[in-house]
Amino acid sequence: MKKKLIAGNWKMNGSIEANDGLVRAVLAGMGTPGCAVAVCVPAPYLAQLQMLRAASALELGAQDVSAHDKGAYTGEVSAAMLREFGVRYAIVGHSERRQYHGETDVLVADKAKAALAQGITPIVCVGETLAQREAGQTEEVVKRQLAAVIHANGHCVSELVVAYEPVWAIGTGKTASPQMAQAVHAVLRAQLRAATPQADRVQILYGGSMNAANAAELLAQPDIDGGLIGGASLKAADFLTIVTAAGRA
Ligand code: PGA
Repeated sequence: MKKKLIAGNWKMNGSIEANDGLVRAVLAGMGTPGCAVAVCVPAPYLAQLQMLRAASALELGAQDVSAHDKGAYTGEVSAAMLREFGVRYAIVGHSERRQYHGETDVLVADKAKAALAQGITPIVCVGETLAQREAGQTEEVVKRQLAAVIHANGHCVSELVVAYEPVWAIGTGKTASPQMAQAVHAVLRAQLRAATPQADRVQILYGGSMNAANAAELLAQPDIDGGLIGGASLKAADFLTIVTAAGRA
């Protein structure tokens, strides 16, 4: 069976002191996890995390990556730079970047491609807003978002991680029910199957108010292969509970 992946998304949170305490507590409690575990941290802390994680099973992730290789792109961070810090994953197309930074499906697809070219696994986020769900457009929206990435990445599609994150569930405490989430994951799986014979290898994560109390039930669904965890990844005990649930699922 494919290993699940629990990835923390710290968003724009942390400090050198807070990171130190959080990561040491996670490492102390994690032991040999029964799933893959990563934390996606703000770029300035990558060097600190690279030292803290040392040779542990805790993988390092970034929250974004430039679509460009190098050059006059003030403020951007390239995939090659991330790789120098031992980064294994990069979130691309998080709804906060789509919403606040105007990222389009095409740009997100190019970011995924830039990450893959450096051997970094993109965690491609897709998800509908509340208005789109209420208008019955959920399937259409997530398929359009994923189609752009499939189109740009051809035979590399099986190397992606996909995260279904309904926008209305992010940071709101409103989680999609396991059945609701599974229904969308099944749509995404079918779309991946049409694109690659290795679609079953792709980990499809759920994200949006996943926490210590609801993780086990979500992770028990057949097409939910892990979680992208925001708020609950900032508390070591909660994050570890989710990691344990994923190891058992
Ligand atoms: P949340 O965030 O767990 O705080 O809802 C998830 C995410 O945005 O990745």
